Amino acid sequence: MTIKAGVMGWPVDHSRSPALHGFWLKAYGIDGSYERLPVKPDELAAALRALPERGFAGVNLTVPHKEAAMSVVDEVSPEGQRIGAVNTIFATADGRLKATNTDAYGFITSLKFGAPNFDPKAGPAVVLGAGGAARAVCVALQDAGVPEICVINRTTTRAENLARDLGGNLGVAPWEERTARLKTAGLLVNTTTQGMQGQPALDLDLQTLSPRAVVTDIVYTPLETQLLAGARARGNTVVDGLGMLLYQAQRGFEGWFGQKPEVTAALRAHVLGK
Ligand code: ATR
Repeated sequence: MTIKAGVMGWPVDHSRSPALHGFWLKAYGIDGSYERLPVKPDELAAALRALPERGFAGVNLTVPHKEAAMSVVDEVSPEGQRIGAVNTIFATADGRLKATNTDAYGFITSLKFGAPNFDPKAGPAVVLGAGGAARAVCVALQDAGVPEICVINRTTTRAENLARDLGGNLGVAPWEERTARLKTAGLLVNTTTQGMQGQPALDLDLQTLSPRAVVTDIVYTPLETQLLAGARARGNTVVDGLGMLLYQAQRGFEGWFGQKPEVTAALRAHVLGK
């Protein structure tokens, strides 16, 4: 029987997940499908509840459902609870819905492969932004053993809320201090929308950036943001944002279709539409 999965969002046309999972289904010769599922916010609960009877093994969630789904499902993993959002749902044989968040895994795995020499203990991490993506990145960095994480956001109160929720080694600095904080950074992560196609570049002076810092952007359109180009020109190791998207998808695919899929150059090219 064909195993079904998909991505729920509103809108969902822009999602690259069908291309990504479709590539793997074909590559591994699996009898499965992965559909776009446009679901309005007020239809989310019913759509999720209907998954088992419609024969779905599960779904990915995208904007705007990642937080709302938490109160619909039967079980949220500890990682999903810490991040405060879920992106992957598994429907079990008895009709229950289990949710988790694989973005932290996607981020840290992409960083490990993209910068094999990255040492979490090399110095503080500077995380720019305080939205859902920043939460997943901070959880990943805490678990990787980064000694100190500095969250810097245009709206400082959002950074403070994030630091309060996650606790531990999270600190906050004002937006105006972002350049000064680069001096000792072992890692710089952009989780803001700045630098994305159609948006202005991230307003950040790299003059003070430590030559040892690894720089990564979660934006992947374009693949080489101005931030990454600037850091690369200074000789810093850079990691683009596509890896996070590809690695976060591995766990869902494995759970639904029973095969751990590989992230390869061919997959990257396919998802980029090349
Ligand atoms: P997501 O949940 O996908 O991370 P989000 O919640 O919309 O997305 O967060 C977007 C991030 O980009 C926020 O940190 C936002 O800063 P604010 O909290 O101050 O809004 C940041 N951002 C958006 N536009 C920005 C700009 N022009 N300059 C700096 N940061 C910006």
